[in-house]
Amino acid sequence: MMTVNEIRQKYLEFFKSKGHRVIPSASLVPENDPTTLFTSSGMQPLIPYLLGQEYPLGKRLANSQKSFRAEDIEEVGDNRHTTFFEMLGNWSLGDYWKEEQLPWFFEFVTDVLKIDPQRLYVSVWSGAEGVPKDEDSIAIWQKLFGEKGIKDAKYAEMVTEEAASERGMQPGERIFGYQKKNWWSRSGAPDKMPVGEPGGPDSEMFYDFDPSGAMHKPEFGKYCHPNCDCGRFIEIGNSVFMEYRKKEDGSFEKLPQRNVDFGGGLERMAMVLTGTPDIFGIDVFANISRSLVKSGVISGSVDIRRLRVVLDHARAAIFLANDGVVQSNKGQGYVLRRLVRRAVMFAKLLDLNAPWFGVVLDSLTESYPELKQNKVFIETTLREEIDKFSDLIGSGAEEIQKTFSKGITAIDAFNLHQTYGFPWELTKELAKERGVYIDEDEVQEEFKKHQELSRTASAGVFKGGLADSSEKVVRLHTATHLMNAALRKVLGESVWQKGSNITEERTRFDFTHGEKMTEEQKKEVEKIVNDVIARDYEVKKEIMPLEEARKLNAIGVFGEKYPDTVSVYTVWDPKTQEVFSREFCGGPHVTHTGEIGKFRIIKEEAVAAGIRRIKAGVGDVNN
Ligand code: ALA
Repeated sequence: MMTVNEIRQKYLEFFKSKGHRVIPSASLVPENDPTTLFTSSGMQPLIPYLLGQEYPLGKRLANSQKSFRAEDIEEVGDNRHTTFFEMLGNWSLGDYWKEEQLPWFFEFVTDVLKIDPQRLYVSVWSGAEGVPKDEDSIAIWQKLFGEKGIKDAKYAEMVTEEAASERGMQPGERIFGYQKKNWWSRSGAPDKMPVGEPGGPDSEMFYDFDPSGAMHKPEFGKYCHPNCDCGRFIEIGNSVFMEYRKKEDGSFEKLPQRNVDFGGGLERMAMVLTGTPDIFGIDVFANISRSLVKSGVISGSVDIRRLRVVLDHARAAIFLANDGVVQSNKGQGYVLRRLVRRAVMFAKLLDLNAPWFGVVLDSLTESYPELKQNKVFIETTLREEIDKFSDLIGSGAEEIQKTFSKGITAIDAFNLHQTYGFPWELTKELAKERGVYIDEDEVQEEFKKHQELSRTASAGVFKGGLADSSEKVVRLHTATHLMNAALRKVLGESVWQKGSNITEERTRFDFTHGEKMTEEQKKEVEKIVNDVIARDYEVKKEIMPLEEARKLNAIGVFGEKYPDTVSVYTVWDPKTQEVFSREFCGGPHVTHTGEIGKFRIIKEEAVAAGIRRIKAGVGDVNN
């Protein structure tokens, strides 16, 4: 049986032989792309080139891209979902087209991997949005199947998944036309794409694990079909014919070039080659399981779904740490923390013996030698979180056991969260395991009640610096938030508030910054603030858990400790949803920035090493 490493190597060699240059995998943390937290497909780092910029290595590229999809986290545990995976890619940047792409992929799958063509099914774009049905691909697939002895491969127009599940598949049908399922862009179906986004029809290939159809369950639809979610069919590759771009009026125009963007699931191909519909049966996962048994971490039989969560999350966390992600309360770091905590939790539920993480890391380093050079960093980074969270659930374990043995209520769930920092979603999973039902609405009610109670307290904590709440002071207070955001735009995100003091005459604001501001920088800050004032943005207050505020990138005073529930002020444009500033703060503030009046910096000076002070005013400011 071919290993993951062998399949990757064969794939890259195959496309090299078709004139492609092999490019390295980009980092899981995208560079220069603030729109997304992780690299989740091979095309992401290539967007400028798909839009027409010249790629230095030419028009034919291939690679294996490390990818991470956080949205799949809850799905892990079934036979085919993982959060981390490798996407085998090949691209034509305005070079070859369908006539080359589809036969090459088919050749790779049937001749190199030697997958039985009888088990393969494909799908194509059935037409909509002013883009016609993909007749070319239908004809190419009919020819390709014909050459493998599958004569008269029939086309079936499914359009939607619902229609497909009502209709089912008829004998001889191999090529299925869908709409939404056969259009690919980063943001999904045509109607979801923002203006300027590239995308296009695609053609997917599926492997049938169960020609008898017995695997299908009615909860997934009346009848099975290639895009059914029952697990019988698994998608192994997707050829996107990326030749469109969304226009202002919602229609599509052709890109300057016709691109092919292919993505194939490396692990899924390996899974097909095992012959068993279980992605956790492929060599990289099977090796870990074997090591866990050999080292005594696992003894006896284990719950397979739980073990899959541990295997997937540990592998994903290790690859994220390998690309420099460190756990924190926001962005990529927050996702890493969630993965590690869920892995620890499930390891505990499985009663895995203590050194499970070390065994997983050792085994993965064998399978992926690239992890060797960062192994110490990965181990130190993740251990910290593993140990901390293990202690936490360890100290709460007795309480948790007690709670569950008497049946859990919404208030119990809330208390577990408050007392032990126990994530609500894990409580839910524990409860589910035991067949205990918790009313989610009731839990949310509890959280809300608690927020109301904390409101007074947190307002007190955050009044800091506000001498009184006269109208002028309130205007200056909001102006101070705008200035804080503008300083971070002009001087960079190393700017943090160190303190502030507001009187009727002026706001005084101290912040971290190493040097005197230039005249241009001061002018720029004034301009940005006055611009937001002119746009009359809305100022809104929300009370939320600290963790959520951190996730939203709310900023606070440098070094300040905040309580579990905080009040957050956001200055934003509700029309475009653009957030200009978001801060921990008790208020009060104006409701719209237009009420502030013209903003001016009066003075900028040093107060201590690395700390600057600005005095600024609004409206009729006197020097
Ligand atoms: N970019 C395409 C995908 O992710 C190939 O499916």
